[in-house]
Amino acid sequence: MVSVQQKHYYQDSSEASGRAVMLWLAWLYLLYLQSGALGFSTGTYYESSLNHQTITERALLNVTAQVCRALAVAEGKNFTFPTQPFTAKSIANACEAPKSYKFFRSNILFIQTMNAVVDIARLFDPRYHFNDELLIEGQKLITDGLAVVKAANKMQNFWAARSTLAEILHTLQDFYSHSNWVELGNKFPNANMIRKNASIGNIADKTTATCRNCTEDVCRNNILEDVISKNILTSGYFVLWPLSGNKPTGKCSHGGYFDATSSVEPKGGICKDTLDSSHGYLHKEAAELAIAASSQLLEDIRGASGDREFLQLMGISKGPSNALCFVVDTTGSMGDDIAAVQSLTSDIIENKVGKEDEPSLYILVPFNDTDFGPLIKTTDAEVFKGHVNSLTPSGDGNNPAMSLSGLQLALIGAPPNSEIFVFTDAPAKDAYLKNSVIALIEQRKTAVYFMITDVPGFRRRRRADGNQQQTQRMVRADSQLYRDLAQASGGQAIEVSKNQLLQATSIIIDSTSSSLVTLLQVNRNVGRPENYTFSVDETLTDLIIYITGSSVDVTLVNPSGELDNSTSTGPSIITDELAGNLRTLRLRTQVGLWELGIMSTNPYTLKVAGQSPIDFIFSFMKWEPFGEFALLDNRPTAGSNTSLQVTLLEADSSTVTEVTLVESSGSGQVDGFVEAQGGGQYWVWLEKIPSVEFVVLVKGQIINSTTSRASSVTFQRQSTTSLRASTLTVTVSDTENILEPGTPLFVPFFVTTTGDGGNVVIKATNDQGFKLTFPSSLTLESGGSANGTASLTAPSTSQSGTGVTLTIEAEAPGGADTNYDVLHLTVLPKVTDFSPPVCQLVSLQSNCSDNCNQSMWELSVEVTDGENGTGIDRISLREGNGILNSNMTTADGSVTLVSYNASCCSPNVQIVVVDLVGCLEPTARIP
Ligand SMILES: *[C@@H]1O[C@H](CO)[C@@H](O)[C@H](O)[C@H]1NC(C)=O
Ligand SMILES: *[C@@H]1O[C@H](CO)[C@@H](O)[C@H](O)[C@H]1NC(C)=O
Ligand SMILES: *[C@@H]1O[C@H](CO)[C@@H](O)[C@H](O)[C@H]1NC(C)=O
Ligand SMILES: *[C@@H]1O[C@H](CO)[C@@H](O)[C@H](O)[C@H]1NC(C)=O
Ligand SMILES: *[C@@H]1O[C@H](CO)[C@@H](O)[C@H](O)[C@H]1NC(C)=O
Ligand SMILES: *[C@@H]1O[C@H](CO)[C@@H](O)[C@H](O)[C@H]1NC(C)=O
Repeated sequence: MVSVQQKHYYQDSSEASGRAVMLWLAWLYLLYLQSGALGFSTGTYYESSLNHQTITERALLNVTAQVCRALAVAEGKNFTFPTQPFTAKSIANACEAPKSYKFFRSNILFIQTMNAVVDIARLFDPRYHFNDELLIEGQKLITDGLAVVKAANKMQNFWAARSTLAEILHTLQDFYSHSNWVELGNKFPNANMIRKNASIGNIADKTTATCRNCTEDVCRNNILEDVISKNILTSGYFVLWPLSGNKPTGKCSHGGYFDATSSVEPKGGICKDTLDSSHGYLHKEAAELAIAASSQLLEDIRGASGDREFLQLMGISKGPSNALCFVVDTTGSMGDDIAAVQSLTSDIIENKVGKEDEPSLYILVPFNDTDFGPLIKTTDAEVFKGHVNSLTPSGDGNNPAMSLSGLQLALIGAPPNSEIFVFTDAPAKDAYLKNSVIALIEQRKTAVYFMITDVPGFRRRRRADGNQQQTQRMVRADSQLYRDLAQASGGQAIEVSKNQLLQATSIIIDSTSSSLVTLLQVNRNVGRPENYTFSVDETLTDLIIYITGSSVDVTLVNPSGELDNSTSTGPSIITDELAGNLRTLRLRTQVGLWELGIMSTNPYTLKVAGQSPIDFIFSFMKWEPFGEFALLDNRPTAGSNTSLQVTLLEADSSTVTEVTLVESSGSGQVDGFVEAQGGGQYWVWLEKIPSVEFVVLVKGQIINSTTSRASSVTFQRQSTTSLRASTLTVTVSDTENILEPGTPLFVPFFVTTTGDGGNVVIKATNDQGFKLTFPSSLTLESGGSANGTASLTAPSTSQSGTGVTLTIEAEAPGGADTNYDVLHLTVLPKVTDFSPPVCQLVSLQSNCSDNCNQSMWELSVEVTDGENGTGIDRISLREGNGILNSNMTTADGSVTLVSYNASCCSPNVQIVVVDLVGCLEPTARIP
């Protein structure tokens, strides 16, 4: 939430008076959000009131803990709940997944932010807030959204699953604040609120009066007795002041200063958003119910998806959350490279599986000179190994290949902040995808490493039949495209001979470590002597320097002043390996300031990295007209001031003191003004954005937990992806984000420019190869804007839950400046199956004696999905450690017989039955 301090910051900077009006509006809006006009407040202002973010976080942590407990118990392990209040860290530890902490935390943050954004994005749509008695409509939003979450999660389409979850949690939480559910004396959540078409109660009709005038600020008795005694459900009406407020006769208002209807008879309101709201005396009850209801919704998703799948949605896994992701050229000349990939895969799997650093997801995308894909995605190391081992080189090895198409597929399929390794020996045939790929790299903050094996000197391509022949060569100009992409992403383009490839892949093993952090990364397209410094803090281990380029001399001075030069080992250098153009220096870690001198006249890249739990995540913020913000997932506007949200991981033991935007290939930088928001979050205000590519550099202090004193050595961390500003803005209009198979979806968008006018070229792409039409260009005036519409159609056979990423890119005249917007859609057929599966007890036999070890009980149940059912998808055990058998299904598949056998020592069982649209029916039986 915008604080007073921040307002001063803007006032201090000499802004035009137009800004002041905006500020005033922002300030008003701010008060209004903090007054919780639209829901539990979304800021930090009301310390003792519970806001949407806190409610959401508590529910996420609570249910995640429950799931981890269930899994531990099922494995016969003890599970100890951490002390309250839970934190992402304590839960990740309790789940025995400490390395997942970073990903878990950033997912919670994402869900919290997307939840809070509903107050902005859906400001004027009462359904999202259960206002204006739109209770059925609100329920429909929740149940429709729930179907998206389940379908998307099943397809590992996590972005859609998490963002839709965030939205429906917001609406669900608002029910408890904005309706009279609490006033009706309910002590439990409305369980039917998350069931499609289920009755949520007796709703007041439009002519029924529900409230009387409030006489005091906090009014306890303004809901009519008749409404309470007849258990009639209602909610408050709301019109945002200064619009004029009206409402049907006799209806309750939302209440509060910003609700124009609250001054119209019957005056006052019923909202419980904060302790200061009209019904603030019920705030605590409403917030507790909102947490319980959110937990219930999460439980429903857990039931439909399964425990491990639920944890994956949250970002909890035993290993680190980064994927191991290979994109491999399979043309005829790639035999040696494929052998190296196979050997490397075996190595990684042998060394990491079962250990802390085990990748949680494996991705493989093959490509050749005519085609690419499919994307293979698995959590099973052996399955992955099987796919890698089945790669064989084939066809002519002479031609440019579809490398960028393969990379694009991997970028979309891999979780954000991953590393992708591309193995090829051929130039790209699809170089025209460059801008789209860079856009994806920026948006997903993913590092791309190219392992290129046909560089000048070793560039003889061979045919699969082994005939050596001098053919097309990959010359330096060809590999420049790969270098540009690597540089943009913060990865590296490693050029080696085929027989050195295996040696160079050690960089892959290093970078699959989840606690790898970057201290410094620079790219120099023109080499010249230059000195750098970097600060090594006490949390850092395994200090390492990577340099790519030819004939690069290095001198290194450690904090004790000892010098290493280009001799292979010295006081600081443990090993110095050269493979192709990649030089790897492993260093003796020493806390303090290091100096690094580079002597080269050739282009080079430099990366200083190490292992540490301290790292950060960041996003540019977009301020809405009313002063709230959203997180930007495209390029910020060139030439303007901007702001960043920076979140520090390990916030208990460290603080941020400096945030700087540093030019990636020059020395220019812009310093930010850092404002702490609490909980490891910071807002950073910057007066401008560098005009060339840049990275984010964060410095801060580490607090010693025993002495509570700051260490004298600062820490530094750098983002790896190069970012850039644009004079264009592309905005894709908000839609329901659902794509119905067979029906075209029209997606309106508009493009604005702060620069010169002219013909702006439009390129739209989608990652599923669905049919897409769009205008090829739009004409803009200087500083103007223009609208267009794209149309996207999924084939009628596409699978429910499939994620589709639609990228709309605009290219300014001249082609150098581009921007884009991305829309995430989920394929979802119209649902006709509203009823959950039905379980019927067939028999229950128990012969339990006093000594439970000696006796067994058994149960059999018939499961059907009703007449219009989509069929049974999954039957699993939630509670009980007996044996479940669900293999007997009638020939037409309509009835499944489930049997369960257990020791009498395990007297309870809960069986979860999920149909294809994700309805579920848990049953509990005690013999
Ligand atoms: C679980 O805790 C109990 C009591 O503290 C202890 O007796 C038992 O050995 C523990 N079991 C495991 C598997 O750690
Ligand atoms: C409610 O308040 C308004 C304005 O103060 C007043 O005109 C009206 O008579 C009141 N209605 C009742 C029923 O007391
Ligand atoms: C935590 O979640 C469980 C279900 O997983 C639920 O029964 C319980 O009410 C939740 N706790 C709170 C405080 O909401
Ligand atoms: C190229 O790859 C596609 C699929 O990615 C495959 O179907 C095709 O057979 C490959 N072509 C050759 C010559 O290997
Ligand atoms: C780098 O540092 C060394 C030693 O301090 C100094 O001699 C050299 O001139 C510096 N080089 C540049 C380019 O600043
Ligand atoms: C490297 O350092 C050693 C010892 O400090 C010194 O004798 C040698 O001249 C240095 N070499 C270069 C190229 O600076």
